Amino acid sequence: MGDANGGAPAPRRAPVFVEILERLARQRGARVEVEPVYGYAGALIEASGRRHFFKGTHFDINRAGAAALARDKDYAARFLAAAGLAVPRGMLLHSPRRAAQLALKNPDVAARLPARQAAHAFAGEVGFPVFVKPNEGSEGEDVTRVGDAAALDLALDALFAVHERVLVQQAVTGADIRVVVLDGKVEGAFLRRPLAVTGDGVTPLSALIAAEIAGFASGGKGSRIVADDPRILGHLASAGLGPESVPASGLTVPLLANANLSTGGSARDITGELSPELADAALRACAALGLRFAGVDLLHEGEVERSAAGKTAVGRMAADKAPVVLEVNAAPGLSYFHRLGPEAAARVETIYAHLLDALLG
Ligand SMILES: Nc1ncnc2c1ncn2[C@@H]1O[C@H](COP(=O)(O)OP(=O)(O)O)[C@@H](O)[C@H]1O
Ligand SMILES: [Mg+2]
Repeated sequence: MGDANGGAPAPRRAPVFVEILERLARQRGARVEVEPVYGYAGALIEASGRRHFFKGTHFDINRAGAAALARDKDYAARFLAAAGLAVPRGMLLHSPRRAAQLALKNPDVAARLPARQAAHAFAGEVGFPVFVKPNEGSEGEDVTRVGDAAALDLALDALFAVHERVLVQQAVTGADIRVVVLDGKVEGAFLRRPLAVTGDGVTPLSALIAAEIAGFASGGKGSRIVADDPRILGHLASAGLGPESVPASGLTVPLLANANLSTGGSARDITGELSPELADAALRACAALGLRFAGVDLLHEGEVERSAAGKTAVGRMAADKAPVVLEVNAAPGLSYFHRLGPEAAARVETIYAHLLDALLG
């Protein structure tokens, strides 16, 4: 969080979670002090003067070691796998710049780092497509799905230009589910889908995409995606489509491989429908990483099963295929969910109320 212009930043509205925290703190005889320039970091202060800091959605609820471990996707996967959870197979690569620095300091370690060739061998072994992403990223930033060796090279070049460590990961199929956990209890669950547009039989994709993304600005959604993001073109190409293609009326065309709401994904509150198997995987993931509060990203094949009574159970078919834990966010953002509608907004407020109770308790 910083001011790219170098001058004094324009005053901005407090993020949603800060407004919620202020209100909830008052109800509990505490208060929130926010750093005034960016309005993004601060402390929850008890009547006794005891302070609980936050920076963005990082709260003093998780311990620093556990949170740092969770943020490192490669490390986190090792701890999750050791606890018996399913994780995608992955390979961590260091940028040539980082590898050269390491070689000066610790040549033995540098010599053991897998090189780009190993990533190609890995992709050949698990099969394309594979995902390429920053090892410590968030909000879907630079998460790219690549379909062949040439695309893998391009993605690695692009990511190494900005990230020191890049993860190449086996692609896992299935529904993308975010489960929010606090102190061993599921607080909320959301089924997420990647950014998509729906055809009308006349408008080309280029215009549908431009209109969809322009619409975000007003809703505050999808701040991390622009219409000319190369990942959109790549994703369309993998489906044999281009910007000039005209999707049939009512046909939904996914534009990205990642379901983050920050890149325009959509979500549905499925808290009441989450299967015990998925809830259990999320709780075990938090326990494996020593986190009290987290948003667990699960990928699950048995998406939604609709019973005869019309009731849905998300993840009911888990018995034969374990959910895959993609990542565990120690500082889950909930603002996008808050905007989904009254039910989700109430859910998010309840999560923050419980979070405050846990912090103050
Ligand atoms: N290996 C994978 N297989 C399938 N989908 C993936 C994979 N990696 C990432 N994704 C998609 O991209 C999204 C973002 O990936 P994630 O690792 O959670 O990064 P971030 O920290 O940026 O959210 C996931 O929620 C999922 O939709
Ligand atoms: Mg994620």
